[in-house]
Amino acid sequence: MRSSSGREAAARAAARRAPRPDAPTPAPTSLEHVARPAGPNGLRVTFDLLRSRQSTNEIFEAIARANGPVTHYVLAGEHVYLVSDPDVITDVFLTHARDVMKGRGLQAARPLLGNGLLTSEGEFHLRQRRLAQPAFHRSRIEAMAAQMVTEAERHEAGWVDGAQVDMVEEMTALTFAIVGRTLFGTDLTGDARTFGDALAELLSGFGQLSALGSERLVRALPKGRYLLSRVEDLDVVVQRIIDEHRADAANGVERDDLLSWLIRARDEEAAAEFGAAMTDEQLRDEVMTFVLAGHETTAMALSWAWWLLSANPAVAERLHDELVSVLGSGESLRAPAYSDLASLPWTHAVVAETIRLYPPAWIMGRRLLTDLKVGGWDVPSGSIVLGAPWILHRDPTIWDRATSFVPERWIDGDGRFDESAPGVPRGAWIPFGFGNRRCIGEQFAWTEAVLVLAALAARWRPTLVPGSVVATQAAVTLRPKHGLPMTLRAREA
Ligand code: HEM
Repeated sequence: MRSSSGREAAARAAARRAPRPDAPTPAPTSLEHVARPAGPNGLRVTFDLLRSRQSTNEIFEAIARANGPVTHYVLAGEHVYLVSDPDVITDVFLTHARDVMKGRGLQAARPLLGNGLLTSEGEFHLRQRRLAQPAFHRSRIEAMAAQMVTEAERHEAGWVDGAQVDMVEEMTALTFAIVGRTLFGTDLTGDARTFGDALAELLSGFGQLSALGSERLVRALPKGRYLLSRVEDLDVVVQRIIDEHRADAANGVERDDLLSWLIRARDEEAAAEFGAAMTDEQLRDEVMTFVLAGHETTAMALSWAWWLLSANPAVAERLHDELVSVLGSGESLRAPAYSDLASLPWTHAVVAETIRLYPPAWIMGRRLLTDLKVGGWDVPSGSIVLGAPWILHRDPTIWDRATSFVPERWIDGDGRFDESAPGVPRGAWIPFGFGNRRCIGEQFAWTEAVLVLAALAARWRPTLVPGSVVATQAAVTLRPKHGLPMTLRAREA
């Protein structure tokens, strides 16, 4: 029998699965018979995607390179415009941010994510963003940096010289531990551990179903129905964690984790419409969103970085030289800290160059809410516009040595890391997206990726197991298709 909190959670989960009354709908179009840019036949695209000879990101790149800056095709009844021009992308995603909504990529995971920052729209999204922003303030990131390094050291304690590991699994476990620690302020043990295990299963399950792009199809499949029942179980655990945090707050216990900041947050601007503080339901949706958005992306960035370092030993040695000069070596080696970040330009450059070549969020989609000119073409309301960091970051007409791993491109004349990608147009460097939908965890991610890489690369030199095939797989994030089998090599003390 369900407990009363179980029944409540189940009722909330059912409500979350119902169509959202406040979801924006595209205005009717007045553009019925418009000229459309050249593009492939939609059936051909579907066939290529299903045949999966190439990975999805490579198929999209080939389409864009063959057809020009704006390409059109019809896929599953939808008019899709794939944009590969930096100015056009900036125009749609940034200048016209209010004329578009998110595409359908994450719709399949909506029962899990609810109406959190990734999936919500309009005024409600802006209000949630205002409430969540202080939790990512610089001073908060600084406080969380120490926890990131502690988790990296804890993870590394299990590494053995000469052991073979899958680096994707290693980095996923580590970033999961970091998000658990920074979000709840606890180890992933007890309730939080149950949460962790159930969520890991759901993330991978919904990740596999995300290509369906529809909640209805997810519900039609036995696997989808099973996952939905697991969401209800998970909701009970999340509710208990929220209750504990609220009780601590009522008893004057000052907690410093992200969830406590979200509980304390107040927004007077939209208080009349949405209330000043987040409800339990809203907290639950943001918790799920931060765990999803906050660990797999950084895990993939770190995984690809280890592979690129293994394939480019000279870069790995230069990275190690920087770490020795900042953190010391042998007996005097110390852990990196937030205050070291400014002294680690090469470590930053390795991360930047990694997410240029292997952007974890490899594609972003928007649905037009109104008719819009896109790169000179009249595009009807309701159409989908896709912009792919994977394509823009590798455009040989924009980037010098576009497909090579060249971290020095991020170092300026004074030896400092320059995050702005000097010399390339604004929309050509978009690993964290645009404007009011730009990644709220961007500074969290930079801090985490640089400090974790510094902590681990100071002591270890992982190398790819010879003969391993490395290929991309474009799921929700860009993953190494066959994992990354690597041998852990301890550096000389
Ligand atoms: C290397 C790591 C990361 C990358 C490459 C990345 C990339 C992105 C991108 C491209 C978007 C925009 C998606 C769109 O416009 O459709 C986004 C949004 C978001 N990211 Fe990240 N992210 C990373 C890490 C994180 C972390 C660590 C967190 C949280 C702790 C996080 C939380 C979010 C959230 C909540 C949003 C939605 C923001 C909104 O729409 O208001 N991300 N991320």
